[in-house]
Amino acid sequence: MLHTNLAVNEKGHLTLCGADTVALAKKYGTPLYLLDETRIREKCRTYQRAMKTYFSPESKPLYASKALSFLGVYRLAKDEEMAVDVVSAGELYIALKAGMDPGNIYFHGNAKTVSDIRFAMDAGIGYFVADNEAELCRISEYAVERGMVQHVLLRLTPGIDPHTFDAVNTGKVDSKFGSAIETGQAKAFFMRARALPGISVDGFHCHIGSQIFDEKPFCDAADRMMGFLVMLRDELGYTASVLNLGGGIGVRYVESDPYIDIDHTLQLVGAHLHRICEETDFPMPQILMEPGRSLVADAGVTLYEVQNVKTITGYKSYVSIDGGMTDNPRYALYRSRYTVMLANRARDDADFLCTVAGRCCESGDLIGEDMTLPKPEEGDILAVLVTGAYNYAMASNYNCITKLPIVMIADGADRLAVRRQTYADMISCQL
Ligand code: LLP
Repeated sequence: MLHTNLAVNEKGHLTLCGADTVALAKKYGTPLYLLDETRIREKCRTYQRAMKTYFSPESKPLYASKALSFLGVYRLAKDEEMAVDVVSAGELYIALKAGMDPGNIYFHGNAKTVSDIRFAMDAGIGYFVADNEAELCRISEYAVERGMVQHVLLRLTPGIDPHTFDAVNTGKVDSKFGSAIETGQAKAFFMRARALPGISVDGFHCHIGSQIFDEKPFCDAADRMMGFLVMLRDELGYTASVLNLGGGIGVRYVESDPYIDIDHTLQLVGAHLHRICEETDFPMPQILMEPGRSLVADAGVTLYEVQNVKTITGYKSYVSIDGGMTDNPRYALYRSRYTVMLANRARDDADFLCTVAGRCCESGDLIGEDMTLPKPEEGDILAVLVTGAYNYAMASNYNCITKLPIVMIADGADRLAVRRQTYADMISCQL
């Protein structure tokens, strides 16, 4: 199986964290998101342990909650003593509602509005990751008005291309995010920030991209970022105490994707950072990382019911399901690959080549092409694996299709964490 939390039971049914997915489809209806809570907790602990051990005792992961944001996941993060990164006042609102300590929240984004900034500062947010000068000025003005000092990290682009797909490639010089080291703008950004009242610049941030499968791009980013930190110390006498290396560790979606050992990858990045610090006689900063996908993706499975199978003679076969791009837009957007199976016939031979199609009135609404399944029949339960990240978070009501519920599973026991949206919910803002 693709991940160790997936198995097939004696009935030939797919199980997630020990729970029979076919029984869950019956109990809660389809389409349905399942989320293995135990898995997410294990991953949080792996990151926390590894970062403390290999970087420094005060180093820690921040959960990049854009990957999956709802009350239950923030409660889980709180319970695991995770700090989180939020990218909007909406994410911040939910994190606060879940009872998270605002001091453990880092606010990202390249276009924070005045009201975002005020809302976050009134809530007592720990850090802003400041993207640009206009935003810094707004933070400074409000901090002065409130008579306080706001901690910030400055977002930089280290000029690293991790060679993943373009939509998630963010560390290059030509990027809408941050300030480039290479062009001298990063240094100017820092000098401007230092001159502003009401702001404490504690360090720097970069995020080079997503779906990265080895330590090399992180080590390269660390080289550039540490080079910048050393330059600031030598030229301006400023020693940064925080370095945030962003998220991006990859996840296995299909058999041909590599398996990535998070602990080992962090060990290699840590050893590299210690080497740089020794060579430059720089005190090891607090290292932050922002895993999103690698914390939650493999905890998720989506279940659908097969509605029909259509074979176009001489062309191909379409398997249509009761969900699609409204609950998982990633194939439509990025051609992202997924593994599918029939949850109720998990041992049958997968010898039927097909395109899995969603129910939207749009031909691009596909879950994937050239997929193999046992020949499906109406009523079969189709499972899409590894859907914990960027599925619920990117869901929409296109075609006025309602959003799916989320059922969380912990040690085999299931509970409803997000109920299914109703038609009335869907029009609740419409006057
Ligand atoms: N930190 C920053 C500043 C980010 O922009 C991101 C992701 C992360 C951390 C988390 O990266 P991760 O560990 O999840 O790779 N919707 C796309 C992914 C967009 C990622 C945006 N930023 C997808 O479905 O693949």
